[in-house]
Amino acid sequence: MRSFLVRTVLVVILASAHLSSGKSVPKADDDDEFLYGVFPDDFRWGFATASYQIEGGWAEDGKGPNNWDNFTHSVPSPIADGSTGDIACDSYHKYKEDVQLLKNIGADYYRFSVSWSRVLPDGTIPGGINQAGLQYYNNLIDELIANNIEPMITLYHWDLPQALQDKGGWVNEAIVQDFQAYAALLYTSFGDRVKKWITFNEAYVFCQQGYGDGVHAPGYKLTATEPYKCIHNVLKSHALAYRLYQNQFKPIQNGTCGITIDSGWYEPKDPNNPADVEAALRAVTFKHGWLAFPVYTGDYPPVMRQFIDRKSEQEGREESRLPVFTEEWKQLLKGSSDFLGLNHYTTELVESVSRADPGWHGDQDTQTSQDPSWPESASSWLRVVPFGFRRLLVWIKETYGNPLVYVTENGFSDDHSVGLNDDKRVDYYRSYINNMLKAVLKDGCNIKSYTAWSLMDNFEWARGYAERFGVHFVDYDSPERTRTPKKSAGELAKIFAENGFPAPPQ
Ligand SMILES: *[C@@H]1O[C@H](CO)[C@@H](O)[C@H](O)[C@H]1NC(C)=O
Ligand SMILES: *[C@@H]1O[C@H](CO)[C@@H](O)[C@H](O)[C@H]1NC(C)=O
Repeated sequence: MRSFLVRTVLVVILASAHLSSGKSVPKADDDDEFLYGVFPDDFRWGFATASYQIEGGWAEDGKGPNNWDNFTHSVPSPIADGSTGDIACDSYHKYKEDVQLLKNIGADYYRFSVSWSRVLPDGTIPGGINQAGLQYYNNLIDELIANNIEPMITLYHWDLPQALQDKGGWVNEAIVQDFQAYAALLYTSFGDRVKKWITFNEAYVFCQQGYGDGVHAPGYKLTATEPYKCIHNVLKSHALAYRLYQNQFKPIQNGTCGITIDSGWYEPKDPNNPADVEAALRAVTFKHGWLAFPVYTGDYPPVMRQFIDRKSEQEGREESRLPVFTEEWKQLLKGSSDFLGLNHYTTELVESVSRADPGWHGDQDTQTSQDPSWPESASSWLRVVPFGFRRLLVWIKETYGNPLVYVTENGFSDDHSVGLNDDKRVDYYRSYINNMLKAVLKDGCNIKSYTAWSLMDNFEWARGYAERFGVHFVDYDSPERTRTPKKSAGELAKIFAENGFPAPPQ
């Protein structure tokens, strides 16, 4: 107790010296202008998907069950339309067709994830390696390379072997070793051909929504401490997997390794109220900084340490709900990413409010909302706010020292009724990519690639098949899961080919 108190006092003193969470990003006066211009020659374009959302083949060829199989099969169904990923887009059988879709649009690379329980059915090496699972990914990688498309692998995009979930999943520290062994298997099996590795996708989502809010697998509505434990173990797993690549594989394979972190942009609800301005910075720091500060500085953001320690103490706890890294872990974490993978979709307004509900939401003393005038999508949380993308990119530049950024997801949802004429998605991509162009050409942000989410409609987690993010329409009524290009596929093909927006229409 005493050391906790002493530490809290020290942290409060230190934190007040840099209470802010980076600098506010002022509004730009050219928000409404469309910028004509192109990206640097070495800029790359691609698409992303994730194993559980597209593969299907859920019990085929020796694959073990994972937590999303378990979650979607539970009764009553926690999924909005009662669906599962058992078949999804059937990419387990149709990967060659997927590669042709990528080729038709002119993608430079394809970001996909590996299903852990497809290659290690119980999640561990002693439990046995599933050769058929490895073969599936070898086939996909070879098909991509034969078509001149670079493979980019995400090691973990939310589907955890159920056997590991049964041992507590990400809140059991033992998983750090299991993840390292899994990473070693993938580097060894695919690293001769795969040169871009992403350890984790959007840990905020599976930790907070899976272990705190309960709407994603494993569906735990747990205490205010579990999401913090989850991220702590994810960060340790990431650090070891990164160091393993850096020390043992990079010297031979010459690839790069990083992490993908999702974040919205956060605008003060009242820009003239300093408390709201501070609250908006706190919101982006609790969201993006939760993972990125440890990766760049070796430790959690000072503002998180200050707020969570203080609240934990007020709750009469012996220890802070935000775990502490030892000096050794700080050293392993600091600088553990060759690039920053960024997923971005939308923007929120932030008000400063004092809250007593313990947990990641209440700990921030903020309340978020969206401006009803911002255009909607089919997803309740996703409104179209293109300038927010640029502001986030500038905040990242200022906060972490202009790191190399790969945009690893960005996209828009509609529903079945829209069909192939997805004009709103076309507008979304044009305006968001244009704001990224401003960030590169006008603000000097070091962004080197852009990944559209997603190549095709797919299983949208708790929303099932009701929300569609694809530039290809997938017909779920057809056993063939027929894929048809939407208008947005043509628009992206043009932007990719021209490397931006070279000139106004004549
Ligand atoms: C989910 O996993 C638990 C624990 O292994 C098991 O008892 C349960 O039967 C599984 N549920 C489904 C629907 O597979
Ligand atoms: C390693 O990769 C870099 C850039 O990705 C390249 O310039 C360099 O030639 C490569 N080195 C070897 C030994 O392959």
